[in-house]
Amino acid sequence: MKKIHLIVGARPNFMKIAPLYKEFQKYPDKFDIKLIHTGQHYDERMSKFFFDDLQMPVPDEYLEVGSGTHGQQTAKIMERYEEVLLNDKPELVIVAGDVNSTAACAIDAVKLHIPVGHLEAGLRSYNRAMPEEINRILTDSISDYLLTPSPDADENLLDEGIAKNKIYFVGNIMIDSLIQYKEKAEKSRILEKYDLYPSEFVLITLHRPSNVDKEKGLLTILNAFEKISKSIKLVFPIHPRTNKQIKVFGLEEKVKKMKNLLLTPPVGYYDFLKLQMEARFILTDSGGIQEESTFFGVPCLTLRPQTERPITITEGTNKLVKLETEDIIKEAKNILKGNIQKGKIPKYWDGHTAERIVEIFKNN
Ligand code: UD1
Ligand code: UDP
Repeated sequence: MKKIHLIVGARPNFMKIAPLYKEFQKYPDKFDIKLIHTGQHYDERMSKFFFDDLQMPVPDEYLEVGSGTHGQQTAKIMERYEEVLLNDKPELVIVAGDVNSTAACAIDAVKLHIPVGHLEAGLRSYNRAMPEEINRILTDSISDYLLTPSPDADENLLDEGIAKNKIYFVGNIMIDSLIQYKEKAEKSRILEKYDLYPSEFVLITLHRPSNVDKEKGLLTILNAFEKISKSIKLVFPIHPRTNKQIKVFGLEEKVKKMKNLLLTPPVGYYDFLKLQMEARFILTDSGGIQEESTFFGVPCLTLRPQTERPITITEGTNKLVKLETEDIIKEAKNILKGNIQKGKIPKYWDGHTAERIVEIFKNN
């Protein structure tokens, strides 16, 4: 019986860990699985909603770390998770993605000589100003099982000198959840709730510090929204970081004045998938939404200078846009005119990634 910890902390972790948790549960004689929640995200709408939609049990350990500076948050996670590790002594720890909880728990584990598996290993934006890039590099460099979503990730790891026998191209685990819950999402009533019609709205999410933490950047984006909203409705489930920054910069009035901009609290997983499926296009700086929109074949404009998910551009429906009001408007108009990039679904984004991963651990 192998004792394994699965780590979640922030919103994008839940849909990556849920399919793996369920797949491991199919082999109760082989695996003893514990779910650990660091508490990096804690609002009901950033955490509990996902446990409900993804049909996940209450975590075995909840570390309640909350928000803070990078140093504070990372240190708190490390201090609290180390105690859990010392008491519980798992044989393997699996972390996902690139958030602070990912790197902090991986460091704790390797220092206690516990092997680490990294889901979504090998992605690189090559922009070290992004906190996530530091988390990716740190986590990959100390992990024993590098579970990659796309061939570019394998190449990045090999370029960094990581041994080939640690790298496993398993596919995109986030798409496992998407495929599993697509039917439920199709039945979501979110369109009726907000009086929306298919293809008659743009779906927006924003939360990168580089876009929302400086007034100039946020204004650049809101000015573009003002113009685009004259042609089509904008639906904007707002991330708590962005909500806070709009208040800090006193931009609430500007946002309220845009009659065709619908601001909502963050929405649950089924509702958000439904909004993605039905949107004319998506405007985002999220990592995962670039991938989900590629799966749905819905055009995506990513407000970033580069992406760690280049396959969403080369094979999918994603396009990068500069943080300039005119560029954002130009690209949006282009899509509204019908100039859209057709994409395909990348290899192993097929709903079977969790199975491929569990197969690795059954044999190791
Ligand atoms: C984090 C991740 C980011 C990921 C994003 C997904 C890091 C460094 N960043 O960014 O990679 O893309 O999650 O959503 O790990 N807050 C709340 N309620 C919550 C959580 C946060 O109000 O439940 C507010 C707090 O004011 C907090 C701020 O949001 O200070 C930022 O939260 P934090 O977890 O530090 O970073 P995110 O921007 O959420
Ligand atoms: N998501 C959601 N509700 C929202 C916004 C996002 O369910 O209001 C989902 C989205 O479908 C995807 C994940 O959250 O599965 C992406 O998380 P986020 O954008 O917060 O993080 P990132 O991927 O940028 O790290």
